Amino acid sequence: MNDDFNGLVAATQATLTRIAGDFSPAVFASSLAAEDMVLTDLILRGKLAIKIFSLETGRLHAETLGMLDRIRETYGYEVSLYRPEPAAVDAYVSQNGLNAFYDSVDMRKECCRIRKVEPLNRALAGNKAWITGQRRAQSTTRAALDIEEQDEAHGMTKFNPLADWSEEDVWHYIRSNNVPYNPLHDKGYPSIGCEPCTRAIQPGEDVRAGRWWWENPESKECGLHVVDGKLIRIKSATQTTPA
Ligand code: ADX
Ligand code: SF4
Repeated sequence: MNDDFNGLVAATQATLTRIAGDFSPAVFASSLAAEDMVLTDLILRGKLAIKIFSLETGRLHAETLGMLDRIRETYGYEVSLYRPEPAAVDAYVSQNGLNAFYDSVDMRKECCRIRKVEPLNRALAGNKAWITGQRRAQSTTRAALDIEEQDEAHGMTKFNPLADWSEEDVWHYIRSNNVPYNPLHDKGYPSIGCEPCTRAIQPGEDVRAGRWWWENPESKECGLHVVDGKLIRIKSATQTTPA
């Protein structure tokens, strides 16, 4: 865990407050997993003017959808949902089958494009900044993640306020603040995406080993954070990374 955990939380609160003040309107993309529950708690308890949305792909676990109720019960907040275009889903499924994403990386990326990337574009339209729960330590593809980035693809600033947080920091925050969390985390799922593309991991395995487990680690991004094969990552001059 971070030696100065309180300092880490305070720096993250400061980043979120700055986003709400200087980047309005700003939105937070929540997958409803542990990292995103930390940010949800900081945003809602801090009464920050940041809208929270989820991409409801149509293939999420019942436990993940149950988090929408937990958030309503705990904070009295209704997360906005963005769903894929029904016609695009129908065309993909009728041409390729319901689970064609197992057949090739291209098929998988096309499913993610229809169910996540296109709805994300709709969710982000008209905003100045968006926020994610990505952490640097999550995967090789996120090793260079910054707290503040310029997202050229969406023409806005992108914040990853938990970039410096470790998995231990996330769980320490959740337990010490009684934050509700997806029960799948207690069943071997450190990282949770769509149900058919996520499985439990064995002790000692990489935290994202259960995501798209049939693919190579380099291809394991769904297009939310990668555009045309490139990570959207341009360092900003005004970073707030704590020392
Ligand atoms: S993914 O890109 O491989 O699916 P991951 O599950 O690690 O990503 O989540 C990283 C961040 O992407 C989350 O913290 C969240 O900000 C965003 N994200 C992922 N899935 C969703 C979703 N279904 N709805 C909204 N945001 C999401
Ligand atoms: Fe489709 Fe799997 Fe991507 Fe979900 S994670 S959108 S089911 S390919």
